[in-house]
Amino acid sequence: MSLKKLVVLFSGEGTNLENIIKKLHKKEFEGKKIEIVKAITNNPHAKGIEKAKNYEIEVEVIDHRNFSSREEFDEILVKSIKKVNPHLVILAGFMRILSPVFTSNIKNAINIHPSLLPLFKGANAIKKSFESQMKVAGVTVHRVSDELDSGEILDQRCFHRDNESFEEFEKKIHQLEYELYPKVIKNLLIN
Ligand code: GAR
Repeated sequence: MSLKKLVVLFSGEGTNLENIIKKLHKKEFEGKKIEIVKAITNNPHAKGIEKAKNYEIEVEVIDHRNFSSREEFDEILVKSIKKVNPHLVILAGFMRILSPVFTSNIKNAINIHPSLLPLFKGANAIKKSFESQMKVAGVTVHRVSDELDSGEILDQRCFHRDNESFEEFEKKIHQLEYELYPKVIKNLLIN
């Protein structure tokens, strides 16, 4: 049985983290076992910390406020990731812009973004997408690259808008994230 190691980076609620844990952590697919070997957050108050600990996943807090530059923070983050030598690094609501210190060292990293990229990059993507004239909305999984939300698109899911309230719209976006992200992760690790 070969082991496929994942590291998850998160900053807040951690609902994507929990969804990935439920669907993939310690599960076997075609003779390969996926395991989240570590979860890392930049936010000591992230709700996701408790969620990961409930499943006995090691959580490391690297508080970005203790570093004077993005690069210094990224150096420590890279070191922490390299210690466990994962096959894949997953960003799940990780709200830090990563510098080339990260992207030149960690090649196999992916992110989920709550819009149909290349539209609505950056923060508040759900709000921007909700407030747009677009008749469809959706989510994107892409590789992490030097430029924010601009790496190779791996997959997307969308829905046709139907005069939803913001709350309903947001719920639909999250639902698509919970469907899509584990599928892409599994495809990358198993196939
Ligand atoms: C998710 O909607 C994710 O797509 C988004 O943050 C949310 C995190 O929720 N990420 C970004 O906007 C990245 N630019 P969660 O902590 O409950 O998974």
